[in-house]
Amino acid sequence: MRKPKRLPYEQLAPYIWEMPLAVRRGQLPPEEGQLPPEEGELPPEEGEPAAGTPRTLPAGAAPIDWQALFGNARPVEIEVGIGKGQFLVESALRRPEVNFFGIEVVRKYQLYATTRCAIRRLANVRTACADARWIFRYFIPPGSVQAVHIYFPDPWWKARHKKRRLFTEGFVRDVARALVPGGRLYCATDVQKYFGEMLRVLAATPELEIVRQGTDVPPLLDLPTNFERKARQRGSPIWRAECVRRADPAAAANAGGGDASTTSANSGIGVRLARDYPPG
Ligand SMILES: C[S@@+](CC[C@H](N)C(=O)[O-])C[C@H]1O[C@@H](n2cnc3c(N)ncnc32)[C@H](O)[C@@H]1O
Repeated sequence: MRKPKRLPYEQLAPYIWEMPLAVRRGQLPPEEGQLPPEEGELPPEEGEPAAGTPRTLPAGAAPIDWQALFGNARPVEIEVGIGKGQFLVESALRRPEVNFFGIEVVRKYQLYATTRCAIRRLANVRTACADARWIFRYFIPPGSVQAVHIYFPDPWWKARHKKRRLFTEGFVRDVARALVPGGRLYCATDVQKYFGEMLRVLAATPELEIVRQGTDVPPLLDLPTNFERKARQRGSPIWRAECVRRADPAAAANAGGGDASTTSANSGIGVRLARDYPPG
């Protein structure tokens, strides 16, 4: 990516939510149940944290109050890994009735994307620079989000990079918890093998039901991301999955809804799904 131009931080600040928790780059949140955040002390993931890294959650670290953050009670959608902000900006412009929260772990991309929002005075956008796994684990109130978008997550194939992978059962469970019943999770990738892994994780999450998947699912509102444009230019197929947050995951599991029953013909992936709706 070329060096991004951006506005000074003071002009971007109204659009930014800063995570009130300092974590080392690549540091993973503790396993669920290992240590409730209210209790403060964070266990080191790999050895001791770097000097100066606080190991306790600051007193003010509370879940995000969406109404306070946006100044209204409109529905909230989250994009994870906004990159240069193409999808975020276009979505916010086209859907002013929705509040968008964009998460990006690389500061220069977050500031670049936020500059695009600030130039357009998009009152319905806020961005955060942090690892989305920490934000979903501690800062997104359960059942408060209408939709989550995860487009072209890095596959991180090398064994030593695997822990950077976003699509893990723990993270997807946190995403599912953030959604309102009936809320949606939209994902896309141009890496078929990684799509197989994504489907496996999604199918293993009882709170989610995969309602559409494969290469013939169109992008939402025909809004391609930056990576999608590049993939299309290369002529690469794009695999998408759309999931709905079940109202009652336990009942669905008891009724056999969590079991595999069909395999989508267009996915090219031998992962069996809970259900496989036709695109529409
Ligand atoms: C392959 S790029 C895709 C960017 C954009 N979604 C698109 O489709 O054009 C993946 C983006 O996700 C960001 N990212 C990777 N891991 C992340 C994490 N754990 N939390 C937040 N952002 C992350 C990367 O910095 C990068 O900008």
